[in-house]
Amino acid sequence: MARKKLVAANWKMNLTLEQAAEWLADVDEMLQERHADVVVFPSYVFITDLMDMYEGDLLLFGAQNCSHVESGALTGEVSAMQLASVGIDYVIIGHSERRTYFGETNEIIRQKLKVAVKHELLPVFCCGEPLEIRNQGKQQEYVLQQLRESLFDLSPAEIADVTIAYEPVWAIGTGINATPGQAQEMHSFIRGQIEERYGKQISGHIRILYGGSCKPDNAAEIFACPDVDGGLIGGASLKADDFVKIVMAAAL
Ligand code: PGA
Repeated sequence: MARKKLVAANWKMNLTLEQAAEWLADVDEMLQERHADVVVFPSYVFITDLMDMYEGDLLLFGAQNCSHVESGALTGEVSAMQLASVGIDYVIIGHSERRTYFGETNEIIRQKLKVAVKHELLPVFCCGEPLEIRNQGKQQEYVLQQLRESLFDLSPAEIADVTIAYEPVWAIGTGINATPGQAQEMHSFIRGQIEERYGKQISGHIRILYGGSCKPDNAAEIFACPDVDGGLIGGASLKADDFVKIVMAAAL
């Protein structure tokens, strides 16, 4: 089944509004046509400024996080309902930095997925193992537990709008990417688990992105793997020309 590739820029806590606006203009000019679905994840504070500023139709926008609850007394948090109310399409859920630095558990991530799909956001659900788990050869069990405890609570109708991002923790921001063989092995494992839980139609349609030190010089070979449907790009997404090269690699 042919799946359209998706390449996403996860800016994390980088770029000022001025730099982001410049990036947007540069990427729009360089991209010219739609090579893949392209989603930009800026900081909350100026997502809507960028959406208002952007006049093209090549880029989609998302938030890097949302609260696990609907609404209430949670100072500093932003809800899925609030994101949806300003027209944001996508939301990253369960990024490893949220798990590591903000204590997000599989249970919290399960709740975030539920509330995001309830408000018709399109979640990018992140999973992936730390180095010590890979060194023990237990990466598949580890990722399966993340899937079971967070993602598999969704109904077949709810999961249809989810994109999965496999991001081995040891590859994020380290300059050490998974080899195409390692990526394909895990992506095909994840797709197999989706098939067991939801059936062939959903597993054939769901997109699984790779993330972790994806760069212009390794994107093409990683994206060529049959079960890799694009990438979630951190560091290399900050420079417009590098990011565009990665998007182009998805079109090869
Ligand atoms: P990186 O980050 O490309 O800088 O490794 C990827 C991510 O964290 O989404």
